[in-house]
Amino acid sequence: MSYKLIFIFLFSGVRFIQGDPAPYYPSPFPIDGLFLIGAEADQDLEELKKSLLLELGGANIKISRILEAPPVLLANFDKKYMDKVLNIPGVAYVEDDAAVELQAGGKKFEEPVLPEWNLDRINQRTLPLDGNADYAGNGGKDVHIYLLDTGIYKGHEEFQGKEIISFDFKAGGNGIDCNGHGTHVAAIAVGKKYGVAKNATVHGVKICGCRGHSTKGHVTKGINWITRKRRLPCVVQFGIASDEGGSPTLDNGVKELTDLDCVVVAPAGNNGNDSCLVSPARSQEAITVGALAKFDYIHHNSNWGKCIDIFAPGQSIMSAWYISTYDNDTLSGTSMSAGHVTGAVALKLSSGMKADKVKAKLIKESTKSKMHGRLNGSPSRMLYVKPPQDKVKSKPKAHGGNVKKEEL
Ligand SMILES: *[C@@H]1O[C@H](CO)[C@@H](O)[C@H](O)[C@H]1NC(C)=O
Ligand SMILES: *[C@@H]1O[C@H](CO)[C@@H](O)[C@H](O)[C@H]1NC(C)=O
Ligand SMILES: *[C@@H]1O[C@H](CO)[C@@H](O)[C@H](O)[C@H]1NC(C)=O
Repeated sequence: MSYKLIFIFLFSGVRFIQGDPAPYYPSPFPIDGLFLIGAEADQDLEELKKSLLLELGGANIKISRILEAPPVLLANFDKKYMDKVLNIPGVAYVEDDAAVELQAGGKKFEEPVLPEWNLDRINQRTLPLDGNADYAGNGGKDVHIYLLDTGIYKGHEEFQGKEIISFDFKAGGNGIDCNGHGTHVAAIAVGKKYGVAKNATVHGVKICGCRGHSTKGHVTKGINWITRKRRLPCVVQFGIASDEGGSPTLDNGVKELTDLDCVVVAPAGNNGNDSCLVSPARSQEAITVGALAKFDYIHHNSNWGKCIDIFAPGQSIMSAWYISTYDNDTLSGTSMSAGHVTGAVALKLSSGMKADKVKAKLIKESTKSKMHGRLNGSPSRMLYVKPPQDKVKSKPKAHGGNVKKEEL
């Protein structure tokens, strides 16, 4: 918690001392010449664009987009002008644009046995699996899930018409998933067979091309779109993580979304490294999810550390795939883990819980201190979703003849 707070101070975008240049946050793998210029909270963005063109000269900077939430200008200029930009009033910070990565890997390698281990695991406190994968509640009915990912396969039988193509980062793009990652994550959240919240609506917010490539700038366009169009109750899941330079823009984006009553879920990242290095995982407001392997260990490539809030299954997860209506595939990664938490959030919101209560509630109800192996400073918390009342095994009381249902 306190670790995340430090980042809030570092990246709050407020400069206290007049005249100091704004901070510059480099990426280890920058895209040459592309930057995100963060604006002060009260700054008029058109005015800021004018100042930039004036200071650098119109030929030396190109502003490709102005985004209101989080307030950033997507810009193209030679890095030799950086000092000039950092000294323009109204500029809160500048960061390199850089690639963000989808947080999954793997390929078809095993024939699924239903119910899959992941859906079975999260509705019971301890192993062994009991073969039941049902959850209490009404399946996340009326909840809107927004997936910042590769889009979604329209018409997959897992979705039963509750999938909506909502946004494409490419002007004129059709929002359809041509990669698979987004469809896979979507069905973990809402799928008929593979999903946690089987009645929720899922929106594809496409920020990646077919090869899964995206940038901080593209993701920010997706965030900005959600801030304008979101319907409540709302959950937003990121399918990506930044490089280990982090991103104040993505962190600010999470804040914008939670301020609009969306619950935000982020993958911890798949580099086997500290989750506090990457965005939006390090954001304090997001529910950051690490990957749990079978038998309650941390999956070997999952990020770890203090910035993780909860673990959920992320190894060999069977879900929908994008080639055809009945297609499926098995992937591993913290995006898959986050999909389970997104579904669990939808169940909570659908039961009437307020968005700002959900994170604390999931943490409170998680299965604690039962994970095995090295945790590297991560909290020992596994996602727990209540089974329906009638599926809970009755336990005889230690004394007396009465049976008592396990507390739900
Ligand atoms: C979905 O909602 C309907 C009511 O519209 C309900 O009958 C059904 O049980 C729900 N499904 C799940 C999986 O909760
Ligand atoms: C973890 O991140 C640090 C900082 O970027 C980097 O130096 C290191 O190589 C990373 N380790 C792994 C296993 O990726
Ligand atoms: C997965 O897809 C294959 C066809 O690609 C199908 O034969 C199989 O039944 C599917 N498995 C499940 C568990 O839906």
